[in-house]
Amino acid sequence: MSVPAIAVRGASRVYASADRAPVEALGAVDLTVDRGRFVSVIGPSGCGKSTLLRLVAGLESPDTGSIEVGGEPPERAAAAKRLGLVPQRPALLPWLSVLKNVTLPARMNRRADRGRTLPDAAELLRKAGLGEAMHVLPGELSGGMQQRAAIVRAFGLHPDVLLMDEPFSALDEFTREALQEQLLDLWEELRATVLFVTHSISEAIRLSDQVVVMAARPGRILEVVDIDLPRPRTQDLVLSPDFHDYEVVVRQYLRDAFDHEHQLPRRRDGGDPR
Ligand SMILES: Nc1ncnc2c1ncn2[C@@H]1O[C@H](COP(=O)(O)OP(=O)(O)OP(=O)(O)O)[C@@H](O)[C@H]1O
Ligand SMILES: [Mg+2]
Repeated sequence: MSVPAIAVRGASRVYASADRAPVEALGAVDLTVDRGRFVSVIGPSGCGKSTLLRLVAGLESPDTGSIEVGGEPPERAAAAKRLGLVPQRPALLPWLSVLKNVTLPARMNRRADRGRTLPDAAELLRKAGLGEAMHVLPGELSGGMQQRAAIVRAFGLHPDVLLMDEPFSALDEFTREALQEQLLDLWEELRATVLFVTHSISEAIRLSDQVVVMAARPGRILEVVDIDLPRPRTQDLVLSPDFHDYEVVVRQYLRDAFDHEHQLPRRRDGGDPR
């Protein structure tokens, strides 16, 4: 059996603070993501999506359980640049130009780059519509432009595993579609594995092989929905009855998660989840 790209085994995370009751951000979560898959995570605000991503990225350690990325500890995968993260808030360095921000990971720890061909950062920026903004400081960009620069920075590493936390949430509809396509192209070209957090049901279905639906208190995985739709996921497909059926299914699971959290009786919306 081949080693999965991401293996989360019984990982939990509790945040304790002096003036609040402890928050069980993640209960004991199990998640296996096979190599080359595109997996989205969707769930109500506060259900632990970003926490899960931070654990997989090695930025925090789980309180219980274990996490491996490509069979090794996340910190090691990150140090070897096999792992890229686009955080929920674009963490650009304000004193560096957009281009320098994007090329920063490539300029650090060059030993990790041996044997790989990195894409041309300026070209990636142009494709993301930031050609004109390349030499300005992040503070002069709109929120969505900063977000795009952070995405390009992660792409530029050519990681095996790419973790993205609501990367397109601050973008207008058409920029979002263009970047979704770029992301899918890159994913196919690199045979990368992507774990992608979103609040958009249609975005999750369009992009993914699997959609993981989470619920809160404690943060946990409610369902994993296999998206058995052909690729490329064209606009026609997005408008098809099959696509709509998946939207109904994922929406119902999300509603279950919401109702459970707010202690509402279960509701039905039409379609039955399978
Ligand atoms: N550093 C922290 N200290 C204390 N509590 C935290 C911390 N980080 C997250 N939490 C709590 O853990 C829970 C899960 O947070 P998390 O950011 O993972 O949610 P999320 O699913 O990403 O939400 P959103 O969709 O709003 O981004 C929340 O209740 C949050 O308040
Ligand atoms: Mg979050």
